[in-house]
Amino acid sequence: MPPLNNQIVIVTGAGSGIGRASALAFAAEGASVVLVGRRTNLLTATLAEINEAGGTAISVPADLVEPNAAETIVAEATSTFGAVDMLINNAGTNTTARSIRTTDATSMDYVMRVNVTGPMLLTQAVLPGMLERRHGTIITVGSYAAINASPMAGAAYAASKSAVANLMENINHEFRNRGIRACTIYPGEVDTPILDGRALVPDDDARRTMMHSDDMAEIILLCARLPQRALIEQVIVRPTQLRDTQADVEAALEV
Ligand SMILES: NC(=O)c1ccc[n+]([C@@H]2O[C@H](COP(=O)([O-])OP(=O)(O)OC[C@H]3O[C@@H](n4cnc5c(N)ncnc54)[C@H](OP(=O)(O)O)[C@@H]3O)[C@@H](O)[C@H]2O)c1
Repeated sequence: MPPLNNQIVIVTGAGSGIGRASALAFAAEGASVVLVGRRTNLLTATLAEINEAGGTAISVPADLVEPNAAETIVAEATSTFGAVDMLINNAGTNTTARSIRTTDATSMDYVMRVNVTGPMLLTQAVLPGMLERRHGTIITVGSYAAINASPMAGAAYAASKSAVANLMENINHEFRNRGIRACTIYPGEVDTPILDGRALVPDDDARRTMMHSDDMAEIILLCARLPQRALIEQVIVRPTQLRDTQADVEAALEV
């Protein structure tokens, strides 16, 4: 029997990049997957791919910044499949401005809303059910920028990824002895659509050095598959080959 058989898993940002790869991987392991994101067409494509492979999923289009989004997502998941076992906080966003000099309060607030408040509200929505069953896993895709801030990732983004990692630590402090475990993954560069928003969009040569979404899905699955008694608190994962990013940093400092 696949290791994640009948596990009910919410994956945010499931229409593209790491979220899409993770949703496909969870479904292939027998999980019932709840696909969340704003772009319905992308969620529908992920859903079709899962169904074609014989997996189980539903699409729940939602914008994490909307009030009540978290409650709606969890209510939909629970009424369709039952109590949620795992929450994968993967959706993330960035500002156009990367320098702290040009980052305004509105864009800072928006990045914090998606990257920090979104995972917090979803966590709050799944927690009561998890605590009741003394069983639950929350995995958040943070960023290596949380550890090593760089203008390439940007001031607001790096700060948000530090904040959400701290939030995951808090979950462990508060709830690990009640059966809940939280894990933060700190990836370096992964070849996904989010990089198209950079001042200097990485070319094919740069992207060849990067990790793939499937690599991240493997890491997320590793954290999810371990028996509930074992917790991987943090994973730092970076490309083996570290490319020269001087031009990327200089371009980022201009916006
Ligand atoms: N690629 C990298 O180098 C890298 C490195 C470190 C960390 N990460 C992190 O990895 C995660 C996944 O990103 P990715 O690299 O796979 O890029 P991506 O393909 O652009 O994925 C980001 C996802 O987040 C969703 N999203 C954004 N804002 C949302 C909102 N308000 N409500 C709901 N969903 C929202 C997007 O879907 P919709 O637009 O359809 O809503 C999209 O599917 C992010 O947290 C990112 O910060 C990426």
